[in-house]
Amino acid sequence: MITAYDHAFAGIFDEAGIDIILVGDSASNVMMGHETTLPITLDQMIFMAGSVVRGAKRAFVVCDLPFGSYQGNSKEALNSSIRIMKESGAHAVKLEGGVEVKDSIERIVLAGIPVMGHLGLTPQSIYKFGTYTVRAKEEEEAEQLVRNAHALQEAGAFSLVLEKIPATLAKRVAEEVSIPVIGIGAGMHVDGQVLVMHDMLGITKDFSPRFLRRYGNLRDDIKSATEHYIADVRSRDFPNESEQY
Ligand code: KIV
Repeated sequence: MITAYDHAFAGIFDEAGIDIILVGDSASNVMMGHETTLPITLDQMIFMAGSVVRGAKRAFVVCDLPFGSYQGNSKEALNSSIRIMKESGAHAVKLEGGVEVKDSIERIVLAGIPVMGHLGLTPQSIYKFGTYTVRAKEEEEAEQLVRNAHALQEAGAFSLVLEKIPATLAKRVAEEVSIPVIGIGAGMHVDGQVLVMHDMLGITKDFSPRFLRRYGNLRDDIKSATEHYIADVRSRDFPNESEQY
């Protein structure tokens, strides 16, 4: 699974054979420049998800329910999910949290909408955690996370993201639940992996958590291509005879 937020990148990832494209609320950070995922709105998520859906021919597209669009009650969660499905054409929604969102998951799933859960480091709760460091290192939080994973499965979630938790804990969760577990900073013993596209492709800078492997250096590639273009225009090398009508 990889994140995408627009038609062009969704098309490239789809062609490459990715199974799932996540329209993550990480868009708030990497697309909009906010410090946290909290400011992004449901309308903005729907706009991006629609673009991704039009670019993806075969991948399964999951769209995050943004902060403030589902925590109020299960009816609000259902209404926001319905808007995403109707207005963007996404195939599923994802939300953060454990037992506290169980009712909402049940209600959304009853309406025919597949739901992906998200436990561990849940960025929408950053102001509760205070930091983006590894979660559930202590036994009490680890046990709570395992209970939450079971609760999400019982509520009908079809899959679960585990973010930034110890690999041994992620292994235990993956062994105990039967739904696919997708990790980000959760080690090798889970069923799938997800990375934010800007991190995976080397577009973001000054972000190097241990779990991140960069598969490209697009920031430098794009910068040098742009510098080259500027230089060619300034030197009147571009356009040349064959590049005009
Ligand atoms: O918003 C997002 O990109 C995510 C992934 C990091 C799992 O939730």
